[in-house]
Amino acid sequence: MKIIDNIKELKEEIKNLKGSIGLVPTMGALHEGHRSLIKKAAQQNDNVVVSVFVNPIQFGVNEDLDKYPRQLDKDCALCQKEGVKIVFAPKISEMYSENKDNLTLICPPYDIVNKLCGKARPGHFDGVCSVVAKLFNLTKASRAYFGQKDAQQLFIVKKMVLDLNFDVEIVSCPIIRDFDNLAVSSRNQYLTEKDRKLALNISKSLFNMKKLFKEGIKDTRILIDASLKIMEGLDVEYIEFVDKNTFDFQKEVNNNTLVLIAARVPESSTRLIDNMFLWEAE
Ligand code: PAF
Repeated sequence: MKIIDNIKELKEEIKNLKGSIGLVPTMGALHEGHRSLIKKAAQQNDNVVVSVFVNPIQFGVNEDLDKYPRQLDKDCALCQKEGVKIVFAPKISEMYSENKDNLTLICPPYDIVNKLCGKARPGHFDGVCSVVAKLFNLTKASRAYFGQKDAQQLFIVKKMVLDLNFDVEIVSCPIIRDFDNLAVSSRNQYLTEKDRKLALNISKSLFNMKKLFKEGIKDTRILIDASLKIMEGLDVEYIEFVDKNTFDFQKEVNNNTLVLIAARVPESSTRLIDNMFLWEAE
């Protein structure tokens, strides 16, 4: 496995690879969710490239860029174990020119970014799309792997690929949950024991909504009220219902409904997201 920190060497190595390339873009602090993406990429491609880059332009001014966990050695050990060919871990200066106000960005449509996570994090998806597009160009990936946990990100990246004719197939991979049903995330490292207990109520309310939907309840108001009761003590940013194919909001749920939650846990102020398809077995 090669660990590469500069674009010139990456391009040379990519040229030398034979067969298909599966890209797993990450910000590091790899966990079981990332491992599942890497495994899927290894099943479907001749070569797996993992990028590890805490992308500054997708963080807002008051967000956790500085404290975001960085553990490259550990990440590389996981990649090595999973048979990854290249870990691309560039410095910021390798990816962006000094003047951050002078970058060409990819900006997804306002209607799609001005809701859910994009509403609370202005500019976030411009930063995500821009870095992902660079990574597609640099790695010449045939397929790229994204987790369903970041459902809005996945939707937006798929749309970008379609709208801009990128020659890459986006493969979505299911949410991985810990033993206690908490969706795995690099940010779970921030949680105190007390926070984690409270955070479990996010997945608990998702599973409860699924149960209520199975029992015939379709009114989102009823589902939201039940969830808010379960999530008492958490600072709930949103509980929203969208059509999985369009990301349009829904008032009444149906077999295409994806329900999404964002909430903060009070002690560490960690922002967590999770989501679930109401009709699927999980
Ligand atoms: O999901 C993430 O970890 C990031 O948003 C991504 C896709 C690696 C872009 O920086």
